[in-house]
Amino acid sequence: MIHSKPTRNLALDLVRVTEAAALAAGRFMGRGDKNAADKASVDAMRLVLNEVEMDGIIVIGEGEKDEAPMLYNGEHLGTGEPPQVDIAVDPIDGTRPLAHGQYNSLSTVALSPRGTMFNPGPFVYMNKIAVGPEARDVIDIDASVEDNLKAVARAKGMDVNDVTVVILDRPRHEKLISEVRRLGARIRLIPDGDVAGALMTSMPETGIDILMGIGGTPEGVLAACALRCLGGNMQGKIYPRNDVERQKGIELGYDLDKVLKLEDLVSSEDTFFAATGITGGELLHGVSYTGAGATTDSIVMRGLTGTVRRIMAQHRFAKLSRISAINY
Ligand code: FBP
Repeated sequence: MIHSKPTRNLALDLVRVTEAAALAAGRFMGRGDKNAADKASVDAMRLVLNEVEMDGIIVIGEGEKDEAPMLYNGEHLGTGEPPQVDIAVDPIDGTRPLAHGQYNSLSTVALSPRGTMFNPGPFVYMNKIAVGPEARDVIDIDASVEDNLKAVARAKGMDVNDVTVVILDRPRHEKLISEVRRLGARIRLIPDGDVAGALMTSMPETGIDILMGIGGTPEGVLAACALRCLGGNMQGKIYPRNDVERQKGIELGYDLDKVLKLEDLVSSEDTFFAATGITGGELLHGVSYTGAGATTDSIVMRGLTGTVRRIMAQHRFAKLSRISAINY
């Protein structure tokens, strides 16, 4: 057995990044301005990521979908010292609910060793299936909905009608939803935020057993990093939006029929993940402001150890404003 000294847990640095982005974005709750919220969170995230002792490259940036402000793929961040890492960011997962003052938006970031994160290229969407540790060995994205739900139920010692499936509420999921209903399973329809949806499968207190359906590719890679820490599992398949995207992907060498396993989405277990709630949801409390500052709620994880921390933080604006370049 190898015993070594505890090594640095970069996730504890990452939580300062997601807290800063959430605090900046939280000011925009319900103000109806998605781009302003995005800009505030991206600026805060970039500033704090640049202070982290690492040589990082953004592999999973966000924003291409709707041309919002973003951290760019290929952008170098951190102090430039080792370790060399890939970075995945989603400064706001759930920009719409945040702008409309609704539940379930969060800020998230993940790191893994250089070259270990799946590069989604031109593909915005991915078909996904995600589960927690008990069902990690039984999912198959190529199998029918029925086979997957029965397998998950069996693995968890439940009946299919006890199983709860989380699905993004989108017209493209009409067939999936009616199939799940036909089988008698329960559905949690979420308006946005399938990173949280995937994480919930691995947190028994949420009552979610499986995530199914098509969502963002960046969100898929972020969720894969978290699921590696949590011991859950995920499979994905690229889902081109149109023929142009399909053709571009083929020319770039993507195999559109390939099942992307968890290890394809992030090939190292040495991964770090943090998320902070912006508006409250089933996973995390949102930012709440007081006269003196604000409170944040975050989840922080490390793949090598499997340690999952919950961090409630109190931020004091009077003190922060003396030293911080971020206008909280
Ligand atoms: P953003 O807030 O980052 O735009 O993403 C929200 C989200 O609901 C993701 O969680 C999900 O993966 C994706 O959008 C689904 O895309 P679409 O809204 O286009 O169906």
